[in-house]
Amino acid sequence: MPIRRATAISCSNIAFIKYWGDLDSSLHVPVNGSISMNLAELSTRTSVSFDPSLLQDELILNGEPIFGTALERVSMLLNRVRKLANISTSARVESQNNFPIAAGIASSASGFAALSLATSRAAGLSLGEKDLSRLARTGSGSACRSIPGGFVEWQAGHNDKDSYAYSIASASYWDLADCIAFVSEEEKPVSSSVGHSLAHTSLLQAARVADAPRRLNLCREAILERDFYKFAEVVETDCNLMHAVMITSTPPLFYWQPATVAIMHAVQAWRKEGLVVCYTIDAGPNVHVLCPSTQVEKIGERLRQLPGVIQVRTTHPGGPARLEESQLDMG
Ligand code: DP6
Repeated sequence: MPIRRATAISCSNIAFIKYWGDLDSSLHVPVNGSISMNLAELSTRTSVSFDPSLLQDELILNGEPIFGTALERVSMLLNRVRKLANISTSARVESQNNFPIAAGIASSASGFAALSLATSRAAGLSLGEKDLSRLARTGSGSACRSIPGGFVEWQAGHNDKDSYAYSIASASYWDLADCIAFVSEEEKPVSSSVGHSLAHTSLLQAARVADAPRRLNLCREAILERDFYKFAEVVETDCNLMHAVMITSTPPLFYWQPATVAIMHAVQAWRKEGLVVCYTIDAGPNVHVLCPSTQVEKIGERLRQLPGVIQVRTTHPGGPARLEESQLDMG
């Protein structure tokens, strides 16, 4: 077999209704559905080459060779694709992020989405969006939401077949922006994977999960109606519920820093003042401050003045995972 190579680009995403806890942790089938927005300016570009001269899979991330757990996670996804395509060739995976890894902005989401598309194409498969989303989910749950474009809902489902994501509105549907206020660029101390496995130890998780369908409905409606105030209320509630579960797990997980809390207070005060703005926070200390894109300069300026804010990065709704056609070589 000649070398077969494909390159794909995928956006990261920010969850408005969060995924926290698994029904099936090996396949990342979640206990509740979630809703997110792709982030156009935060992306991963991944090339996959199936090369008969390789003795084992290789992973190069931002120019550095990677071994251990990260390589194992990548090999597991490659194995699924090899099985589907009926091949046994090892692959070289070269991946580049344009944002810091593991600092509470989902690098695994864009990474596994780009990996799924590039690997399946390099293996000669043409998977549809649903099957690509299912494949990406097996690498990292939130990655299934980075396959479709714009505003995306992940239907929790019950098993590998019915747990996948689809677009509920295109990237251009709502002119929303995400001003990410970084208060730390360090790797988070406890990975999301470990966090998911602890969620059930919190007494609050059952209540959070039971009410998830209501929050999903509200959030979906708010997006489709472009109703920011309805959106702000449910997004902040959902974020606070997830962090309440984290804090009350055994052992407890505290992802917030003092600067995180200061930003939460500031955002609520700004909203009372009349600014159209709200926050959400993933498994890390950095705060995603959401607002209409017309407000980004004002919000960015205010965020930069808050103590502990290292930098603010502004992002907009992003499209689906895509192939870089010029790189496609099925020779
Ligand atoms: C807090 O998708 O990163 O960002 O499936 O173990 O890779 P794994 O977890 P991951 O979890 C994301 C958790 C979250 C909320 C969300 O994005 O929905």
